[in-house]
Amino acid sequence: MKNFVYNIPTKVYFGKDQLCHLAESLSVYGKRVLLTYGGGSIKKVGLYDTVMKELNAGGFQVFELSGIEPNPRIDSVRKGAQLCKDENIDVILAVGGGSTLDASKWMAAGACVDHDPWDFFQSPRKPLNGALPLVTILTLSATGSEMDGGGVISNPETNDKMGRMEDILYPRVSFLDPCNTFTVSPYQTACGAADILSHIIEEYFNAEEGNLFMIDSIMEALMKTVVKYAPIALAQPDNYEARANLMWASSWAINGFIKAGKTTAWSCHPMEHQLSAYYDITHGLGLAILTPRWMKHCMKALPETTQKFAEFAVNVFDVDKNLPAAEAALAGVAALEKFLFEDLKLTSNLTDLNIGREHFADMAQKAVEGGTMKAYVALSSDDVADIYEACL
Ligand code: NZQ
Ligand code: ZN
Repeated sequence: MKNFVYNIPTKVYFGKDQLCHLAESLSVYGKRVLLTYGGGSIKKVGLYDTVMKELNAGGFQVFELSGIEPNPRIDSVRKGAQLCKDENIDVILAVGGGSTLDASKWMAAGACVDHDPWDFFQSPRKPLNGALPLVTILTLSATGSEMDGGGVISNPETNDKMGRMEDILYPRVSFLDPCNTFTVSPYQTACGAADILSHIIEEYFNAEEGNLFMIDSIMEALMKTVVKYAPIALAQPDNYEARANLMWASSWAINGFIKAGKTTAWSCHPMEHQLSAYYDITHGLGLAILTPRWMKHCMKALPETTQKFAEFAVNVFDVDKNLPAAEAALAGVAALEKFLFEDLKLTSNLTDLNIGREHFADMAQKAVEGGTMKAYVALSSDDVADIYEACL
């Protein structure tokens, strides 16, 4: 186990009726607020009005940037960064899902430089020169962007989708009210659950020696939480307990706590980002399709990994611990598939999404960045292309 530093600078207001703390949270930074949001769900559900009431009562001068796309695009970031500069914005208030939050993080960074924000992503990546403070109101449990320093941005002109983590991009304050997720569609709820699960799986399966039993056990509990509560949220969208469990699991899956010093690269996320980049599919759906295939690839390529997959099966999906490891491991993958494709009703293959193999070679090259992905089981571009093939 490696040494690590744990420092989460995000203050969280969790639960109902916490927006009474919005004005005090923003005014620390100033009165000129850029309110960012997506395609309008916050207006439909009345959250926009609630937020504006608080902002007006607090005497803030509000500027707006709406229309941030799912798989947010660099053009939205460019617009937001420019608006921040033109209007001398003090603080950004992002209200939405991961896409709105991610785009807002890079607007915050883009506001502090003279160059194109895409230069933060393309090699050689330009360093940040500070960032405006960001406050968030989360409306979809999935990415953990509310409590991490990452943001993933798409550039449709180049078929690129790139992420980058920076400490300075952590939100200063995040408001997590499970009620704000009651209106999330069954499909987005399912995709969000698959994303949370994947963030944990990416850390749970890692090649480093000396994992902490304590962290592994917490990861298993987080995964069980998703498996238990996502179907309840689908059946009863306004079930507070289910939405609350998913929301807090979303944050803790990626806020650094379960990472605990591990430096191994992730596997399914780099592969999925290519799917989203080329086909603009929902991130969680791509992960759901890839993950079981990746698991089978790992066990075939490196049979020593079977034991860990058996532990996952037993501890997360209650597979019989007396089964031989290879059998238990496969039963675990089958249980995961049942959860994703039957319980959550997600599409199980790429063919049904009208995705063929024509870009697999290029996507695989991009996923491994022209080399080898040093992940749980190292992946060459041929390995990644094989995993994509298995997803057809
Ligand atoms: O745009 P609006 O109208 O708001 O509608 C959104 C959008 O259509 C809708 N929605 C959100 N909250 C809602 C709601 N609809 C009804 N009621 C609500 N309360 O849901 C749709 C999807 O929203 P989006 O923000 O795109 O979803 P998500 O939170 O899953 O974010 C996905 C993005 O985050 C990135 C993904 O790659 C993807 O681009 N990720 C960010 C990460 C991070 N910052 O650390 C890590 C992740 O691995 C991921 O890569
Ligand atoms: Zn993710």
